[in-house]
Amino acid sequence: MAYLALYRAWRPRRFAEVVGQEKTVTALRNAVREGKLSHAYLFSGPRGTGKTSIAKIIAKAVNCENLSEGEPCNQCSSCQDINNGNFMDVIEIDAASNRGIDEIRDLREKVRVLPAQGKNKVYIIDEVHMLTTEAFNALLKTIEEPPDAVIFILATTESHKIPATIRSRCQVYNFRRLTTAEITERLSDVAANDGIILEPEALLLLARRANGGMRDALSMLDQIYSYKGNNSISKQDVLEVMGLVDDAFMAQLIAAVLSQDTPSIIGILGTAFSQGKEAQQLAREASMFLRDFLLYLVAGKEADLVVAGEESQAFFEQQKSQINMQNLLRALRIMMDTADKLRFSEGQKYLLEIAFMEIATLFSEEKSAQPSFLEEKKPKKKADPRAKASSNEAQDALWNKILAAVKEKKIPTHALLVQGKLLGIKDDTVYIAYKKGYKFHKERMEERGNREILGQALKEIMGRDIESQFIFLDDDQYNDIIVKKALEFFGEELVEIKD
Ligand SMILES: Nc1ncnc2c1ncn2[C@@H]1O[C@H](COP(=O)(O)OP(=O)(O)OP(=O)(O)O)[C@@H](O)[C@H]1O
Ligand SMILES: [Mg+2]
Ligand SMILES: [Zn+2]
Repeated sequence: MAYLALYRAWRPRRFAEVVGQEKTVTALRNAVREGKLSHAYLFSGPRGTGKTSIAKIIAKAVNCENLSEGEPCNQCSSCQDINNGNFMDVIEIDAASNRGIDEIRDLREKVRVLPAQGKNKVYIIDEVHMLTTEAFNALLKTIEEPPDAVIFILATTESHKIPATIRSRCQVYNFRRLTTAEITERLSDVAANDGIILEPEALLLLARRANGGMRDALSMLDQIYSYKGNNSISKQDVLEVMGLVDDAFMAQLIAAVLSQDTPSIIGILGTAFSQGKEAQQLAREASMFLRDFLLYLVAGKEADLVVAGEESQAFFEQQKSQINMQNLLRALRIMMDTADKLRFSEGQKYLLEIAFMEIATLFSEEKSAQPSFLEEKKPKKKADPRAKASSNEAQDALWNKILAAVKEKKIPTHALLVQGKLLGIKDDTVYIAYKKGYKFHKERMEERGNREILGQALKEIMGRDIESQFIFLDDDQYNDIIVKKALEFFGEELVEIKD
């Protein structure tokens, strides 16, 4: 038997099987029972909350041969054909792929034709907000004078894009996100039925992550289950397969941001990257975390927190007195923008690091006149009149050249390298210094991939193979003595540039 995705296998087939959406379900079921269905409905609400499912239940109800208490029987041939998608008089149109006037004209012609197979024709137009203006106008005409025995059910996740003229012709039902409790309950039914052992923490995590969408909850369960290939699913499995980070991690990261601890921010992110987490996913999770934090500030424990578990809540409680809500809101915006940008961007890690640093700056302004980490950057090295100006300049020029060449190859490598400083080149080895606080950068640069990028850049500039060595310098040395140090180490002759 072909494998059937959980979310399809678990599509509610009767009103009674729908989770949540009580008002909608009751109203529609009563209308069916009393034969008072309207000709046009608009179902709006987030994805995976039951719009198409309920549309199909209505389609069955108006064609069922054994309707009982407003519920379709799911046994008669009409019900079965509709469940299998083989019923001629239930027409599903995906407006996302059929946006234009032709499709709607076609619909207008066919709509007059009497039902071929059943008692009523039902048009289900999904993602109806995608229709063009012309198509909307054509649809409007059809809805204004609907033939008998035809019901239109328009569904959308973006109801604000539906013209008022259409909306006013429809009975509108707003679908809501399902609560974590509702999703938890359904997930445990599904798991029990399919012999999946979902550890309570895994269950809760999945339910939270679904963010009110039942389809997403079931799809995630599906994905983890088929990946794992055994029957028992732990919280760790969920985190791993979904590429998520746990509460404690995010709390640690945000704590570093709030205290402007840049090296820790970079270090924590580096750990996540090295475990294979994606920059975009991290940005999204950070956004959800910040969102929950905001909600927690506003509504406290009563807030319906989407991702935050116990550990995060403890963190919110502990931090809340020191947080400025405006800044938190700004931070959330920055993080959401970043998540958006990261969908299309190369040099991903770099962008994410910058975003966290930008947020850290927000909170440093909040604390005091204390300079932010961005301004804190080392003052330009004091010019020592006796230093060999020419070789300093030569060295700076070489460093800039190396940086530019690396940047062209790979931005993330450049982001790591730019925090270092060129000491010099000796015996086919380049020496690059990092401040102690930049352990993370140094270590990442020592990784093969980054070394190779640097190696290629050096070969282009120097015309030969050059190894790289990364050295720690104390912070105070770094700022002022670095040039002197370089000269001591290597002698001024050793800084060479070749065009
Ligand atoms: N309210 C619900 N009760 C039970 N299951 C649900 C509910 N909503 C969604 N589901 C589950 O999610 C699947 C998809 O739901 P459905 O197609 O009805 O969502 P939708 O609201 O039309 O989403 P979209 O906007 O993405 O089209 C269903 O097959 C079912 O497994
Ligand atoms: Mg749908
Ligand atoms: Zn039936």
